[in-house]
Formats: sequence, structure tokens, C-alpha cells
Amino acid sequence: MKVLVTGGGGFLGGVIVRQLLERGDEVRSFSRGEHPGLAKLGVQQFRGDLTERDALFCAASGCDIVFHVAAKAGIWGPYQEFYQANVTGTENVFAACRAHGIQRLVYTSSPSVIFDGRDVEGGDESLPYPSRYEAHYPRTKAMAEQMVLAANSSSLATVSLRPHLIWGPGDNHLVPRLLAKARARRLRRIGDRPCLVDTVYVDNAAQAHLLAGDRLFPGSEVAGKSYFITNGEPIPLWEMVNRILAAAALPPVTQTVSPGMASLAGVVCETLWSILQLSGEPPMTRFVARELATAHWFTLAAARRDLNYEPKVSLEEGFVMLHKWLKEKQVL
Ligand SMILES: NC(=O)c1ccc[n+]([C@@H]2O[C@H](COP(=O)([O-])OP(=O)(O)OC[C@H]3O[C@@H](n4cnc5c(N)ncnc54)[C@H](OP(=O)(O)O)[C@@H]3O)[C@@H](O)[C@H]2O)c1
Repeated sequence: MKVLVTGGGGFLGGVIVRQLLERGDEVRSFSRGEHPGLAKLGVQQFRGDLTERDALFCAASGCDIVFHVAAKAGIWGPYQEFYQANVTGTENVFAACRAHGIQRLVYTSSPSVIFDGRDVEGGDESLPYPSRYEAHYPRTKAMAEQMVLAANSSSLATVSLRPHLIWGPGDNHLVPRLLAKARARRLRRIGDRPCLVDTVYVDNAAQAHLLAGDRLFPGSEVAGKSYFITNGEPIPLWEMVNRILAAAALPPVTQTVSPGMASLAGVVCETLWSILQLSGEPPMTRFVARELATAHWFTLAAARRDLNYEPKVSLEEGFVMLHKWLKEKQVL
């Protein structure tokens, strides 16, 4: 197949690209920057912003399928930036598919699209979208996902995957942030409930994308649906954090603050960052405080049934790989 991966130079996109190449697909990537790792693999890189239709049209020309992985992630920033990258960018991906008669679009969503601040235990794909969001990222990802699912038709088959907390070698979000906070002694457990959370090792998340793409055709079982993608091994959140810290030879987090205090810190930080126009991300937001104080784990039943998805790399194996990578990177 000729495949376009948007964000092929990113954490998840990079592993999707490698897995596609390994099985013999011809892969292109679309993103703003030049990614030397992709050049080494012989991947053709098309440079542009998701808001630039012409650049996307050019990248998609002649492709059989698009994996739309690129997005603006993060907990802070102007709404317009999230909207443009995540919503307008996704509209442009549809337009490129339609312009070139591409019939298959796999969209990378996020479980945060259904997060309403309360515990989710064993949740499935029937969970509704909440009426309001506390951050621009889940809000715009939800808008894009709803567009993707509504666009499913007899000429364009779409599917949306919701990988939860992706981690592993190459992680440029979760792991580096945790390590930086731990080193600065700014990590605190929030509350003392042993809330279970799901995570997914990056190779498993990528594998789910390939499985979904292979089963995606107009009118097929997976077309027009969304799927939670996890490791199927929910674990108490702070145990997960401590395992990641252990992989980096850092001590566990022991100090605790109450959920109420964390939420208040989120309100104060968000107010300060808004009024004083401070740069960077606030150390706490209401969204993060709630995410860290609640359970969120999901059933894999639909992904197993429709995608034949079975996580290949267990948490234990993943921690070993993470340790090896951190060692190679001389992070330890
Ligand atoms: N990481 C997680 O835990 C997680 C969890 C759930 C869902 N997801 C979803 O998974 C996807 C990939 O996430 P990731 O963690 O791999 O993120 P990432 O490493 O930041 O990769 C995103 C890629 O998208 C490209 N990109 C971003 N904005 C763009 C724009 N405006 N135009 C063109 N390219 C753009 C970036 O490349 P350039 O900078 O070169 O443009 C980057 O390589 C996203 O859709 C995210 O919402 C991630």
C-alpha cells in the first residue's frame, strides 16, 4: 500500500511508520519539521502545516490510505491553536482524501474525549461525550473525532482509535515530563485512593492502527466506529508513575496532596497564567488535577472483537524496554 502518515516523525507516528515499513508498505510522512530519523528510513517527507490544504493535498496524492496521527497535544495554550491544528487540520485531511479518491482514513483520537471528570471503570465505546471540557485539547480532539465518524460514507471509510496514555521508548511527552518533575521534586500523589488507569505501550498502540487500517473499507465492520486502545492491564496510577520513575532509577513519589488542594492549585495556576500571560505550561491545571485523581480504564472487548487486537508487549516487558532506552539515552 501507499500510505500517508500525518505526524510520522512524532512518538506514535514514528512507530506506525516503522511497522508499516517492516511489512513492506510505501510510507510518506506529513509534518511541519524535517525528521532525520524518517530520512534514514527512506521515508518521503512532505513538509507543511495541517492548516495548509495545498501541502496536504500534495502529500496525499496517490495514497491508498491515510493515518491521521498529527495533532496539537498539551494542557495549555490558546484555543485557536488547538482548533486550527486539531479541527481545521482534520477537515483538511478529509478534503485531501476526497480530492484524491482515498477511501480509508484512520484517525488517532484520545480517551480524553469522553472524560467528564468522574471515574471511568471498565468503560466502553458507548460512553457519551461530556457537555463541557476543562481543556482545549480534549475538546478539539472530540470535535475532530465526531467529524471523522460523521464523515464515514460509501466513498470514505473512517475509524477512530483512542489510545490511552501512550508510553515507551521515544516518548516525548509523559516520560520526560514525569522525570523532570521528579528531579525537581515537584511530583505529588493526588489523593490516597488507588485509582486504576489504563496505559498503552507505544508498539501496541501502533499495532492497533495497522489492524484497524487493514479492516477498514467502505461498509466494513469497523467503519464509522471508535475504539479504546490500551494494554488491557489497568494499574493504580501512582504505581505506574513509580514504575516509570524506577525505570529511570529515580525514587518513588511519596508525598501526597488532597484532590481539593490539587484542583485549587489548578485554578490558581490557570488564573495566573491567563492574567500574567506567563510562558510555558502551568505546573497544574484543573484538567490534570482531575485526571490524576480519578480512575480511568476501559474494556478492550470491542477492539479484540472487531480489530483482533491483542497487546503484544506487556507492561513488564515495556518497563524493561523503557529502562534500556533511558540507559542508551544516558538519562539514567
Ligand atoms: N501521547 C499520548 O499519550 C497520546 C494519548 C492519546 C492520544 N494521542 C494522540 O496520538 C497522536 C500522536 O501523539 P504523539 O504523542 O505521537 O505526539 P507527537 O510526538 O507530538 O507527534 C505529533 C506529530 O504531529 C506533527 N504535528 C503537530 N502539529 C502539526 C501541524 N499543525 N501540522 C503538521 N504536523 C503537525 C508533529 O511534527 P512537526 O512538529 O514536525 O510538525 C509531530 O511529529 C495525537 O493525535 C495525539 O492526540 C497521544
